[in-house]
Amino acid sequence: MEKIEAIIRPEKLEAVKNALAAQGFMGLNVIGVTGRGVQKGIIHAGRTGEKVEIDMLPKVKLQLVVKDQDRERAVDIIMNAARTGVIGDGKIFITPVSEAIRVRTGERGEQVL
Ligand SMILES: Nc1ncnc2c1ncn2[C@@H]1O[C@H](COP(=O)(O)OP(=O)(O)OP(=O)(O)O)[C@@H](O)[C@H]1O
Ligand SMILES: [Mg+2]
Repeated sequence: MEKIEAIIRPEKLEAVKNALAAQGFMGLNVIGVTGRGVQKGIIHAGRTGEKVEIDMLPKVKLQLVVKDQDRERAVDIIMNAARTGVIGDGKIFITPVSEAIRVRTGERGEQVL
């Protein structure tokens, strides 16, 4: 099993959730985060022309655990739904998950996903 953590634009959350659901990926968490990437936030001109630097930008972190065989399919769905082509589209991190347990039944492994 693999945990996919996708940090995306908040305005893309609905599209990504819908695209995942349409392909059978139901279980997930959504966490509001503030973060920065390589551009270290943004700088833009204020009303009087002064430079306003915003270090940390609001993003959404989507977290889902998937079967090994579903990993690339889930990544593709997220990328296609989240991408605008402009800097700040987000990042995806993937880590191995050693166990999953359904509390109600005690079932374990990929079958609980
Ligand atoms: N190295 C990192 N570790 C953890 N989180 C990160 C990392 N880089 C980016 N993030 C998170 O992803 C969000 C979006 O990052 P962003 O899309 O700006 O990445 P980027 O590498 O700067 O790519 P781009 O050039 O497309 O902007 C950040 O606001 C932050 O929450
Ligand atoms: Mg960036």
